[in-house]
Amino acid sequence: MSIRDEKNHETSYLKERWQNRSEIIPPDIEDFTSKFNEREHLLKEMEQYASENKVPILLPSAARFLQIICRSKKPVNILEIGTGIGYSTLSMLFALEGKCHVTSVDFNIERIKVAREFIKRAGFSVNLIFDDSFNIVRELLSKGATFDMIFVDSMKSEYIFMNYKIQALLKPGGIAIFDNVLFRGYVCNNHPPKYRKSIKLLKMFLSHVKTYPGITTSIIPIGDGLLIIEKQD
Ligand SMILES: C[S@@+](CC[C@H](N)C(=O)[O-])C[C@H]1O[C@@H](n2cnc3c(N)ncnc32)[C@H](O)[C@@H]1O
Repeated sequence: MSIRDEKNHETSYLKERWQNRSEIIPPDIEDFTSKFNEREHLLKEMEQYASENKVPILLPSAARFLQIICRSKKPVNILEIGTGIGYSTLSMLFALEGKCHVTSVDFNIERIKVAREFIKRAGFSVNLIFDDSFNIVRELLSKGATFDMIFVDSMKSEYIFMNYKIQALLKPGGIAIFDNVLFRGYVCNNHPPKYRKSIKLLKMFLSHVKTYPGITTSIIPIGDGLLIIEKQD
């Protein structure tokens, strides 16, 4: 990819991204499904907030899928890595009608503040932690904590360093979901040179995770690509 192509590509990506559109789903299909899919008014307001303030949220199509998983698995104890403005947090809470305990971590204080406000307006309570997730994961492991569901939506190039620990924090029968594993489709085809290192790490994560015993892995091409890990009972 030439520098000019790379620049054009990035500009067109950001245009889509700040409209909460994926790059792996054709825009007309995403617009159609987004109109079709019912969701709480507050979630729509958060989508608008993310678009106007250019903050990344879980893409709405992936959020609907996350809600379906929540309604079918009914996790009680949930860990979220990458709170952002709390869009995915509230998607899970609405799906479970608040009948769960969510611990959510982010190292961006401004986003935590916005998330806290939205969560308060929704009338739910969440254990929101402002810290680097690596510290919190280490602390949770040392306490012997375990979770029914773990949702990871942080830095994709760090997934490989997080993976073993996340699996250790999962209860048998639990489920972990990693967002952005297809990274705009770059893991499958050409990518701008500036992403070479993160794509290498992401690909390494995806090939390692498949070889672990006692888990089932699936990639679902929705949003920016979700990796689902189910730990055997
Ligand atoms: C894509 S955003 C999360 C969006 C959020 N799930 C939502 O739907 O609103 C990724 C977030 O991960 C956070 N993050 C990235 N690496 C982190 C780390 N090592 N520890 C804590 N937070 C991290 C960033 O600050 C950012 O807010």
